[in-house]
Amino acid sequence: MSEEISLDLDASLARSTARSLEIEAELAKDPSKFRILTGDRPTGNLHIGHYFGSLENRVRLAAQGVETMVLIADYQVITDRDGVGPIRERVYSLLADYLAAGLDEEKVTIFTHSAVPALNQLMLPFLSVVTDAELRRNPTVKAETDDTGDRPMSGLMLTYPVHQAADILFCKANLVPVGKDQLPHLEQARVIARRFDERYGRADASTPVFPSPEALLSKSGTVLGLDGTKMSKSKNNTIEIGMTADETAKLLKRAVTDSDRHITFDPVNRPEVSNLVNLAALCLDRDPVEIAEQIGDGGGGGLKKLVTEAVNEKFAPIRARRAELVADHGHLRDLLARGNARANEIADQTLSEVRSAMQMTY
Ligand code: TRP
Repeated sequence: MSEEISLDLDASLARSTARSLEIEAELAKDPSKFRILTGDRPTGNLHIGHYFGSLENRVRLAAQGVETMVLIADYQVITDRDGVGPIRERVYSLLADYLAAGLDEEKVTIFTHSAVPALNQLMLPFLSVVTDAELRRNPTVKAETDDTGDRPMSGLMLTYPVHQAADILFCKANLVPVGKDQLPHLEQARVIARRFDERYGRADASTPVFPSPEALLSKSGTVLGLDGTKMSKSKNNTIEIGMTADETAKLLKRAVTDSDRHITFDPVNRPEVSNLVNLAALCLDRDPVEIAEQIGDGGGGGLKKLVTEAVNEKFAPIRARRAELVADHGHLRDLLARGNARANEIADQTLSEVRSAMQMTY
């Protein structure tokens, strides 16, 4: 194979961080140069960590005028579990979360893997340009496999970075907003795009079939769970976007704090307290240090009261909109059908270019 994938995560993170700043500047100048592809696995309801880590950013980019494709990655659900779970319910829940958070249904294309055959067919030529050794070295796949304990790795788990390359390249996206755990996948996608052209490129190869997609790093992971560890559904420490104000209040009441009544913003020494202060700051769009000072000697009780109000106020309109969306199932279904039809058009066009580059047109 022509080129090795870099395993130096720190160097890759530093490069992507610097590049993300440049891209932001280019975006502000000319959003029409970019096409964004992002997505989520429909494995549960989105929580406020997702909202501040990625959703809010997507809404901003789409509103800036960048063409945005959002993938509900249903085939990726079965990489590490035995069944599909309540998949239909979860797909629609994700769709409602997206729209309620502010993605404009007239502007973004929302679609699912399973409805776009030509996207999935790209897996075949793409698999031919990667080696099994390279896939086994992927640090994110390794970490995810470790998380699943003794469960043997499925073939789909091993090859999902290749599938994800198809997600990105089928629509020739050149920008992928991701957290840093997804950087190895992006590098894999770039390598696949390059190798495809080296191996199968069009005879008149003045332009490659695929662009080289870049990461736009999002500040994922800034909101921790209610116990001060990573926010994750499996740990039961999340506040979901679609929860009620009462459910939110109940959950925040049992959030972990510490015994010092004087509230400060000190993420290193007081992670749990600072996480709650930060959450309030994000919801109120204010400085966390100032918020901590305002609470002062109010203790954990004062802090929780303020965070609860801040979260419930911030999410009240989003939750109201979500309830309306969920009540009109027909509308959600039509919207997804439209998104899938558009994704199919794009995928069919790309697959036809791929087959003609590979001379598989008979
Ligand atoms: N793996 C991503 C996640 O778990 C979801 C995803 C699937 C994705 N395909 C993608 C993200 C393509 C970006 C681009 O969050």
